[in-house]
This record gives sequence, C-alpha cells and structure tokens, in this order.
Amino acid sequence: MLPTLRRTAILGVGSAVPERVMTNDDLSKLVDTNDAWIIERTGIRQRHIAEPGEALSDYCLKAAQKALAMAGITPDQLDMIITGTATADYQFPAVSTIVQHKLGTSGQMAMDTTAACSGFLYSLSVADHFIRCSTYDYALVIGAELLSRIVDWEDRSTCVLFGDGAGAVVVGPSEDEERGILSWSLSADGATWPSLYMPGGGCINPASEESVKDRLHFIKMEGSDVFKTAVRTLQERAEVALENAGLKPEDVDLFVPHQANLRIIKAVGKRLGIAEENVFVNVDRYGNTSAASIPIALAEALGEGRIKKGDLLLLDSFGAGATAAATCIRW
Ligand code: UT7
Repeated sequence: MLPTLRRTAILGVGSAVPERVMTNDDLSKLVDTNDAWIIERTGIRQRHIAEPGEALSDYCLKAAQKALAMAGITPDQLDMIITGTATADYQFPAVSTIVQHKLGTSGQMAMDTTAACSGFLYSLSVADHFIRCSTYDYALVIGAELLSRIVDWEDRSTCVLFGDGAGAVVVGPSEDEERGILSWSLSADGATWPSLYMPGGGCINPASEESVKDRLHFIKMEGSDVFKTAVRTLQERAEVALENAGLKPEDVDLFVPHQANLRIIKAVGKRLGIAEENVFVNVDRYGNTSAASIPIALAEALGEGRIKKGDLLLLDSFGAGATAAATCIRW
C-alpha cells in the first residue's frame, strides 16, 4: 500500500569546526597573496583547518551529537544517515557508515552523496522524501568536508578559498503541518564539470607516482567561470523553490546561501530582491566549507537567535558539476 504523505521538519542542528584558525596573513607566508586581495575578492578573513590525523568522521560525529541532543533523539532511533561530502575518510565505504559506528548504533540505512557544495541539500532532499512518504521517521543529514586535504597549498587561486568543518541536522515528521520543508528545486549541468574538479584518484587517473608528481590529487578550478554560473544558478534555484512554495522573495525572513564568496552572496541577494539584513553571511570566518557551509550557517544563525518559530528560511546551494539545490522551510 502507498504510504501517507506528511511534512518533514528540522528537529535539531549542530556544527563542529577545527580549533586551528588560519588567517589571510598566515596564507601570505605560503603563497604570493595578501589579506587585502582575499578580503576584496572573496570576503574571507580566516578559515578553520583540521590537524593531521583527524578524520572527517570525527567532525561529523561532533556535529551529529549536537543535532541529536537538540532534537532529543537517540542514535538508535535514527532510520537513516546520509552525508554530503567530497572528502570522506576513505574512497569507500561511505563515511556515513563510519559515523554510524562512531555513534554506537547499527542497522539503519547509511550512504553518502557526491554533489560537491550542494551535497548537504541534495542529501536533505533525499531524507525529506523518505520521511514525507512515511517510509522512515528520523534521519541524520550531514554536510562535511576536510577540503584542506585536497587543496593545492601552492595554488594561490584556490588555497585561499576553502576551509574545514561539519554541520548536521536531525529531521523527522513535523507535528504542525504548517511547519517544515515546503518546497524543492534541484538541478545540475554536467557540461560545466571541467571548470571545477579533482583529476586524480578516480578511475581515469588512479593514484600513481606520476599522478602525485603532476599534482592531480588537488582541486582545479576556473574561478571566473564558476563565479558566473554560481550567481545565475543560485538565483534560478531560489526563484523556483519560492514559486513551488507559492511564496515571494519578500516573504523570506532569512536567506541562507552557500558561503563561497561574499560577492556571489551579495549579487544573488540583490538579484532576488532580498534585503541585506535578511541574508546570512559567515564566509568571512569559515571560508568555503563546501557541503558543510549551509548546516554550519544554520547552526550559527540559530545560536545567534536569528531564526524564530514561524520564520521562512530559504536555503540555496551551488557546487561542482553545477549541482544546485534550494528549499523553502517554515521553521
Ligand atoms: O563553492 C563553489 C565553488 N567555488 C566558487 O564559488 C568560487 C567562484 N569563484 C570565485 O570566487 C572567484 O573567481 C575567485 C575568488 C576564485 C577569483 O576572483 P576573480 O575576481 O575571479 O579573480 P581572477 O581569477 O580573475 O584573478 C584576478 C587576478 C589574477 O591576476 P592577473 O592575471 O590579473 O594578473 C590572478 O592571478 O588576481 C590574481 N590572483 C590573486 N592575487 C592575489 C588570483 N588569486 C590570487 C590570490 N592573491 N590569492
């Protein structure tokens, strides 16, 4: 029999970032850059960087424990664990299975999604549909990256941009049908893949002495191509998500876009007509944490008291492969 539909709500949020902070001045000792250029072109002032030996799953675990505590849900109550990441502990198994084990639970479905910076919202959309259809009750959704492990610390055009961290939410059925996830808009454009990717480590260029020597195991990016596609696509996804919920930009209480570059965030906010005070920004303190950026921002916005019951949130992400996702959520 087909299950009944119901609405999914975010019940708990948590985040965890490494203690170590790397400033723009620290970076200027590694590559030919400076604080003024980085702030002007990106808005980034610092980023958090994990210590050698630390694993992505360590940060996923810390973020998950906070989200579970806020939701009042135990790990054994979870039906599903799903993590958006491009920097899992290992190529396989899914880091979600390692997080499951570290949480001291077992049995529930666990998998990762590879959608670059859109990995968290892609994952949340999957969990939402399982819960909406009543297949499952509770899901742990994580967005996490240790990008410092795949950044080329000799390439000034990329190494200044990225940071490490994790964010997590626990989602479950909403008790109030007015509240929860209202709409989705998701997309990708595979034609853009060469503008942002890591050439080494996959089946085309498996690890070899040669691939290491050629620096293939690092992020390669055509920054200005990605910039233009990001602005256009973030605007499109946000507009469609609002339309799908029967809402307008002026209904948005807090816009939480992917935190890649302050200029992208400002351009998208302006194109959408959302007032600057309703746009959440923390890229200055974390850099671009890819799949982790939206759940870290959510945790911070909540901690700062910027989200109240009944508020309309618009979450919006963009990443490699031009993956993009936006969702409207009534808190
Ligand atoms: O998460 C989604 C994926 N990523 C993104 O969303 C990133 C999107 N792209 C961007 O944010 C921007 O394109 C960047 C911040 C990466 C670059 O900014 P830009 O304004 O597009 O600069 P550019 O690449 O056009 O470079 C301008 C100049 C170049 O010098 P010349 O050729 O004009 O002499 C670069 O060599 O700036 C130079 N440059 C730097 N200078 C100092 C590039 N990186 C640096 C640096 N410090 N770190």
